Amino acid sequence: MTTTAWQFTQEVHPSPATSAEVVNLLANPGFGRVFTDHMVTVRWNEAQGWHDAKVESRKPFLLDPACAALHYAQQIFEGMKAYRSASGELLMFRPTANARRFQQSAKRMAMAPVPEDLFVASVEALVKIDSHWVPEGEGSLYLRPFMFASEAFLGVRPSLEYVFCVIASPVGPYFKNGDSAVTVWVSDEYTRAAPGGTGAAKCGGNYAASLLAQAQATANGCDQVVFLDAVEKRWVEELGGMNIFFCMADGTLVTPPLSGTILPGITRESVILLARREGMTVEERPYSFEQWCADVASGQLREVFACGTAAVIAGIGRIRHTGGELVIGDGTVGPVTTRIRDLLTGIQRGRLADTESWVHHLS
Ligand code: PLP
Ligand code: COI
Repeated sequence: MTTTAWQFTQEVHPSPATSAEVVNLLANPGFGRVFTDHMVTVRWNEAQGWHDAKVESRKPFLLDPACAALHYAQQIFEGMKAYRSASGELLMFRPTANARRFQQSAKRMAMAPVPEDLFVASVEALVKIDSHWVPEGEGSLYLRPFMFASEAFLGVRPSLEYVFCVIASPVGPYFKNGDSAVTVWVSDEYTRAAPGGTGAAKCGGNYAASLLAQAQATANGCDQVVFLDAVEKRWVEELGGMNIFFCMADGTLVTPPLSGTILPGITRESVILLARREGMTVEERPYSFEQWCADVASGQLREVFACGTAAVIAGIGRIRHTGGELVIGDGTVGPVTTRIRDLLTGIQRGRLADTESWVHHLS
């Protein structure tokens, strides 16, 4: 547990969901549709710095139509989860890693950085007040810290006011078919991020730019889009909302390097560390789509998986592109993917020893 200097004023929701409603909503929450009763807000301006930290009822914001975020998209967010262990303990996974990435995103978007302890104290405060919304079993409480430019001003320059907020949503699996292998669409038309751009920041604009490509993926019967690099349209970068790993026949794991155009995933980093601890060789190196196709054809490539907070570890069974479809292995989730998923989720949910001190205990 973190001890913190930050004090939150607390407004308890006047009419929270009843226990029966919560049980009902937790039975089949889907992803990102159900929200808890409360939220945390903290404000920043130049004169006061971070101030007015509140745990309050979840409710709409009142925004001036000139609010800077609505015009120039000065906005960032994070995605993290709280879990309920089999013994009933509330756990979070590497929240300080999210706090640090949030600071990096803020820096890239010329926003006021949220101090690490304020970030962690805010998510903790929300999980505590809405602890009965943390599902048991395989579900989790998805936490969405975000920050936006709140100054009412139409000039193009960094805002002088920001709102930091955390909301929470109980979730089940991200993909509709649960843990089954997914199909991905490799876009040769749209790219996500260019060198020098905002690809490594978790800002809403990157996702806005991905939506049309994702819609094409959906139209082609795929679950996610895979982006290639913006310069040569050759090198595999990442998916719309996940990083990607390739498992080769000799047991090596290959993942695209952090070149500045992909998100430095916390799951990605955790998988690299866990796989190395398991004795596997992990290479962070460029991998082309051409090579991907050749390695599927030759049998050199055995498994592919996507990873991220929302998706956890998702086996990729098929790739589609304008040239056709390729099936990876037998199209199902392979043993390496399953082993990595079991290790990661085992640690996250307190079933396996927390050898890397990644688990943050809340109660
Ligand atoms: N890449 C993108 C574009 C994402 O949106 C995400 C999800 O947050 C990831 C990768 C994986 O990051 P993490 O493992 O930190 O959730
Ligand atoms: C996450 O994994 O937290 C994300 O933000 C990605 C998005 C697909 C929900």
